[in-house]
Amino acid sequence: MARYQPRDKYYWRARDRGLPSRAAFKLDELLARHRLIRPGGRVIDLGCAPGGWLAVLAAAIGAGGRVVGIDLAPSRVAAANVIALTGDLNDPAVQAQAIVRLGGPADLVTSDLSPKLSGVADRDQARSAELLRAALEFARAALKPDGAMVAKAFMGGAFDEISAAFRAAFARLELTRPRASRPGSAEIYLVATGHRPPPS
Ligand SMILES: C[S@@+](CC[C@H](N)C(=O)[O-])C[C@H]1O[C@@H](n2cnc3c(N)ncnc32)[C@H](O)[C@@H]1O
Repeated sequence: MARYQPRDKYYWRARDRGLPSRAAFKLDELLARHRLIRPGGRVIDLGCAPGGWLAVLAAAIGAGGRVVGIDLAPSRVAAANVIALTGDLNDPAVQAQAIVRLGGPADLVTSDLSPKLSGVADRDQARSAELLRAALEFARAALKPDGAMVAKAFMGGAFDEISAAFRAAFARLELTRPRASRPGSAEIYLVATGHRPPPS
């Protein structure tokens, strides 16, 4: 997990297009490649601050859709079809509020969650894996049958266990790296489609 983030061409492109973060380019690319959402769709965005992914998702779903974001930090939201909740993903009250505000089952859940990095690789990887497990569990409660999930992960100790959990929850799983990811970065994106809801 790289701590130093120099301003590269994606940073400047994000700024030129008025997007709040360079992370927006990665999602833009994944949505275009995998056709994960349509106009009118419902999306939950986990770890949404400062709001780069929210801006891309809001444009993809259009005025008839809705995105609900969750983050510990406040987000900058400029679109009428976006609701950003400030709170902890692990808080059941925040989860319940997100589901209510979405107004129906999600077509897509996205997760760009990252812990505050300590610099100790093993600890950071473990905390990142813990967040991703929580994201998957919540996604399973929020997603419609056959819905999709896109999640950032870091290669490391728990990666095999996490990808196995995704494979059990979805019919298809693709591991991919967007071009906007930094060369040498340990990050990888899970693109999971065909949600199989847990037995009720
Ligand atoms: C890489 S940033 C997200 C960037 C965002 N996707 C964008 O495009 O602007 C990761 C985010 O995960 C959030 N996060 C970490 N742990 C969280 C938790 N338990 N609940 C909610 N958000 C969390 C952090 O506050 C941080 O804003």
